[in-house]
Amino acid sequence: MADEKILVGVIGGSGLYHLDNLTFVKEVYPETPWGFPSSPITIASLPSGAQVAFLARHGKHHTYSPSTVPSRANIASLKSLGVRTIIAFSAVGSLREEIAPGHFALPNQIIDRTKGIRPTTFFDETNIVAHTAFGDPFTNKLLEWLEGRIRKALEDDGKGVKLHTGKCIVCMEGPQFSTRAESVMYRMWGGDLINMSVLPEAKLAREAEIGYALIATATDYDSWRPHSDSVTAAEVFKTLKQNADTSRHVAAAVLEDLVKETNLLEAEAGSMKFSIMPRTAEQ
Ligand code: ADE
Repeated sequence: MADEKILVGVIGGSGLYHLDNLTFVKEVYPETPWGFPSSPITIASLPSGAQVAFLARHGKHHTYSPSTVPSRANIASLKSLGVRTIIAFSAVGSLREEIAPGHFALPNQIIDRTKGIRPTTFFDETNIVAHTAFGDPFTNKLLEWLEGRIRKALEDDGKGVKLHTGKCIVCMEGPQFSTRAESVMYRMWGGDLINMSVLPEAKLAREAEIGYALIATATDYDSWRPHSDSVTAAEVFKTLKQNADTSRHVAAAVLEDLVKETNLLEAEAGSMKFSIMPRTAEQ
């Protein structure tokens, strides 16, 4: 259908370059004022016929490092398709013993270690001043809705993958991993998870009034454990494929219900209303 609404977007992280159980409809590659997205966006239909959009954050062939992902173009292009809510997946390191590699988590807080390095707003280069509310960086209603459904999907999957909720994710600047000292410091700050990709994505989704939740998939214990080797890319790769298979299962289990939740999908609509600073009259 030419005018089918695409309300839900899925962003795939490292290892997750496509979804399962979907019928390919078309590929689109919209140009935005911030350039092209990381890769062409796949539009696919669910068994019910509802369409969703899938975007590989690092490009289909993993050509963008976390520091060079064109996040503004990614979010703007999904917005241009009509997307109201994004489910984003990301490989993360664990800063807590109980979050083992292979486990999933729904963080509800972020510590930003990329500030001043990446472009984080759509309002640069405009003469509009906007201060976006970001105290709750993820869409809480969406997190609540996802929790039970992801738990059930993981149970049905039968691999014993645990879901952790209410966690704080540190977003660091790569491409190098953290030092042991940094990793220990992030734990002291209250960090539970660490990645390089949740920002500026989550900030831009909020500015675009798009609902956003991150499904974090743990690949390693970062570098805080005194008697373990520090994290390497090889260690991350070991868990990546298994996590991607589980992510596809989880996505298939939640998307069909999510597209029908019209109120939930609009959770961030109007959230920028009081963020734009009113202009004062010139003296
Ligand atoms: N992504 C996966 N594991 C990570 C780690 N330990 N640090 C930062 N980003 C990661």
